[in-house]
Amino acid sequence: MAKRIQISRHGGPEVLEWVDCTPPEPGPHEVRVRNRAIGLNFIDTYYRSGLYAPPQLPSGLGLEGAGEVEAVGSEVGRFRVGDRVAYANGPLGAYGEFHVLPADRLVRLPDAIDFEQAAAAMLKGLTVQYLLRQIGHFQGGETILFHAAAGGVGSLACQWARALGLRLIGTVGSPEKAERARALGAWATIDYSRENVAQRVLELTDGRKCPVVYDSIGKDTWDTSLDCVAPRGLLVSFGNASGPVTGVNLGVLAQKGSLFVTRPQLAGYADTPERLQAMADELFAMLASGQVRVEIGQRFSLAEAARAHEALASRQTVGSTVLLP
Ligand SMILES: NC(=O)c1ccc[n+]([C@@H]2O[C@H](COP(=O)([O-])OP(=O)(O)OC[C@H]3O[C@@H](n4cnc5c(N)ncnc54)[C@H](OP(=O)(O)O)[C@@H]3O)[C@@H](O)[C@H]2O)c1
Repeated sequence: MAKRIQISRHGGPEVLEWVDCTPPEPGPHEVRVRNRAIGLNFIDTYYRSGLYAPPQLPSGLGLEGAGEVEAVGSEVGRFRVGDRVAYANGPLGAYGEFHVLPADRLVRLPDAIDFEQAAAAMLKGLTVQYLLRQIGHFQGGETILFHAAAGGVGSLACQWARALGLRLIGTVGSPEKAERARALGAWATIDYSRENVAQRVLELTDGRKCPVVYDSIGKDTWDTSLDCVAPRGLLVSFGNASGPVTGVNLGVLAQKGSLFVTRPQLAGYADTPERLQAMADELFAMLASGQVRVEIGQRFSLAEAARAHEALASRQTVGSTVLLP
């Protein structure tokens, strides 16, 4: 018998249930991983609340974890029992003492990266990889705006942007978070709870604004973000921390400077085992070189995942959060 978190209905953190379950045998193309650390991500709160729909209820929760291969399906050639692995790309169910998933969603973990670091960095780091290295086509020296710069994704973005020679302006919700983002490599910060973001971006860029704006806050920042994009620039809307962006009048893109918008997700970039592995290799190289460090701001026991959700949604966390089974 083992334990996992599941939801039987949508709602607040109180719908997370800590239940007994029997670890299933992996199917022919699957692997069972004994989780050693699990990553907490904002997207987990969307699946919990019902903003995103799990395939069915009851459902497991969580997309990211790291551990050891415990059982392999008959057709799996790439992995053996005992291999150290990590994953970030579903299916749902990472919040458990084990997770069964298709072998092509796994990457092998280099010895230098421990399980907690992997669980803290995989989903968020692969996201930063595609945001900065695949969506952005930077020469170095550009000034970009990145919202929630002291958060999980943001902490990694500050460091990776600095390594690419970018001037990252990070928005944050408190002076402490501003200090933290600057220490991680943000070129400047704007406290969006007290300052006018569009005005500050104009000042910081001498009126030029930013060629690319990264917005994971969604509803609350959409209008402001449009005002921060330079003519013919790109708004990357990649999250809904304050709620989803809906009802957009496309004409606004013309009015604000013939802008581009994209709404990407990790699964759309890490969509083959080869692309997933290549993105992970680049992330692991950034970690190994020390150019990007994993910032674990909080640890919770897996059984207390509801407390972790509360902390994340009430903006009390910094950096990454891991759940320990
Ligand atoms: N599309 C993708 O592929 C992809 C992949 C990974 C993550 N994401 C998105 O990236 C964002 C960051 O994810 P994360 O897991 O690293 O979370 P996080 O940044 O650690 O936490 C979210 C942060 O957003 C800020 N925030 C602003 N308004 C908020 C509100 N109304 N409610 C809660 N937080 C608010 C808070 O920082 P302040 O206090 O500084 O404002 C909070 O700490 C999420 O929106 C997530 O959905 C998207």
